[in-house]
Amino acid sequence: MSKLDVVGFGALNVDKLFKVNRIAQEDEESFVTASSQFPGGSAANTIVGLARLGIQTGFIGKVANDREGQFLLKDFKRENVNTNGIAVEPNGSTGVVMGFVDTIGERALYVAPGVNDTIRFEEIILEDFESLRLLHFTSFVGNSPFESQKKLVQQLPRHVKISLDPGMLYAKRGLKQLKPLLKHVSILLPNEAELKLLTGLGFEDGSQELLTQGVEIVAVKRGTMGCFITNGEEKHVIKSLTVRAMDTTGAGDAWNSGFLYGLLSNKGLFECGRLANFVASRCIVKMGARTGLPRITDIPKL
Ligand SMILES: Nc1ncnc2c1ncn2[C@@H]1O[C@H](COP(=O)(O)OP(=O)(O)OP(=O)(O)O)[C@@H](O)[C@H]1O
Ligand SMILES: [Mg+2]
Repeated sequence: MSKLDVVGFGALNVDKLFKVNRIAQEDEESFVTASSQFPGGSAANTIVGLARLGIQTGFIGKVANDREGQFLLKDFKRENVNTNGIAVEPNGSTGVVMGFVDTIGERALYVAPGVNDTIRFEEIILEDFESLRLLHFTSFVGNSPFESQKKLVQQLPRHVKISLDPGMLYAKRGLKQLKPLLKHVSILLPNEAELKLLTGLGFEDGSQELLTQGVEIVAVKRGTMGCFITNGEEKHVIKSLTVRAMDTTGAGDAWNSGFLYGLLSNKGLFECGRLANFVASRCIVKMGARTGLPRITDIPKL
């Protein structure tokens, strides 16, 4: 097996997008006018972003032995992401997120976590800790994978850093529940709303609060406003790039790829933030979370 630098651990989903004439209310019927599907899952998108930038990556997760599961595994292989850590459950269904988008771009999302939520600690396969530099976590709906993540962080060798994008799902759990995980997290990657939910504070004070919990770097995504990054000593507010946004799905995941790539390449925090904003801007000018993710040759000298 090739040596892996970064492994992701999060939900694996197929994103099924349906264009509809309008989003149905209770007892109402509306029509699907077009549909498409994309490989998805927050950590998975970030890992593909890192793979495109030349990082050796792998993934820990679970799919079922169905068409969706095969679709996700095939796409990872195409992107050169190692799939040895992905368990294939003979029964059940692979995670699916159904998105309904109406003619003015309003969305309704339905999540079917499927076998994602049945991951147990004993199922986690990580063949090679030695070369591993970073483990990137994102959220799950259910408790079993959350407990597995808490257990895993206690057993990792010290040289493996942990990054976490809590998403709304983990932000909603609150600081108290997240504490056992946060104690081991070096890099926390929330958006502004998630940070507010976790700390009750704005981006600057909220980040400070999380640094006191033992996190080394807090990087806050602020949508069109860009980002805020701090490690306690340095603070950077960095504006986003001006682009014509087409589909912001996965903007945060793409941002994480750029930021983590910068850190892995030993760049300073300001440069990491600029790289992250750039990768996110490339993501949002294309449909889907992964389509626009750049390759190393697309990165301009910043
Ligand atoms: N309209 C936009 N124009 C330019 N850049 C944008 C725009 N929207 C988002 N970005 C970039 O994408 C980054 C991440 O977006 P955002 O803050 O929405 O993350 P998020 O809420 O975590 O997204 P996600 O829904 O993917 O989880 C921002 O920090 C910014 O750099
Ligand atoms: Mg996000």
